[in-house]
Amino acid sequence: MSHPMHNSPGLGSPDPERLTDHDYDGIQEFDNPLPGWWTWLFVGSIAFSLAYVAWYHIGLGPSIHDRYEAQVAAHVEKQLAQLGDIQPDNATILDFVERDDWMQAMGGIFRGTCAQCHAADGGGSIGPNMTDDHYRWVRQPSDIVGIIRSGIPGTSMPAFGDRFRDPQIILLAAYVASLRNTTPAAPKAAEGDRIPPWSNWRE
Ligand code: HEC
Repeated sequence: MSHPMHNSPGLGSPDPERLTDHDYDGIQEFDNPLPGWWTWLFVGSIAFSLAYVAWYHIGLGPSIHDRYEAQVAAHVEKQLAQLGDIQPDNATILDFVERDDWMQAMGGIFRGTCAQCHAADGGGSIGPNMTDDHYRWVRQPSDIVGIIRSGIPGTSMPAFGDRFRDPQIILLAAYVASLRNTTPAAPKAAEGDRIPPWSNWRE
């Protein structure tokens, strides 16, 4: 059953030619095409979304996260260059333990590179706990430098000498030293020997 269309005075008179021939419970509709600009905006947004997914999600381009990491790395690189030559000795390492800015930067590297085996807070998992007073290989702060650079042969502790350059290895060693006497969430049982406090090597 068909009802006559109500024609609101404000809308002008609809063209009966454009009235579609279906009728749902007496409701009829006009075939009013969307304006061209609207349709193209719609098509354009779909095309943009496909390009966006390909670039950022499928990975044809760098993700925002990658770009951020690259910027942080470049920043750390610049700061490292300003440090110049620093020595891998106990005094230097223990001085850097006090430098919060550097320890924060190295914390990022530790969590990204070492945490898979030593836990993010140094509490240990595959590798030993580095927050207690017991160490398997380390006897003094400078030993940590050699361990990071060359690894521990015959164990799963890898060498990082290819990956990091010297000032960075020294700073990373300071970060490992800074973990001592902190409180990890799930500490692994102590391994190795109890060694004297770092203050023994402070000048
Ligand atoms: C693939 C696992 C793995 C990764 C990654 C790893 N380690 Fe280790 N690490 C070990 C293991 C296992 C040991 C203990 C080796 C042994 O004594 O059997 C160890 C030992 C150490 C020790 C000596 C601890 C002691 O008790 O004397 C230091 C220091 C150390 N790692 C630092 C680091 C740092 C810094 C990083 C990141 C740059 C790192 N490790 C990454 C597995 C790893």
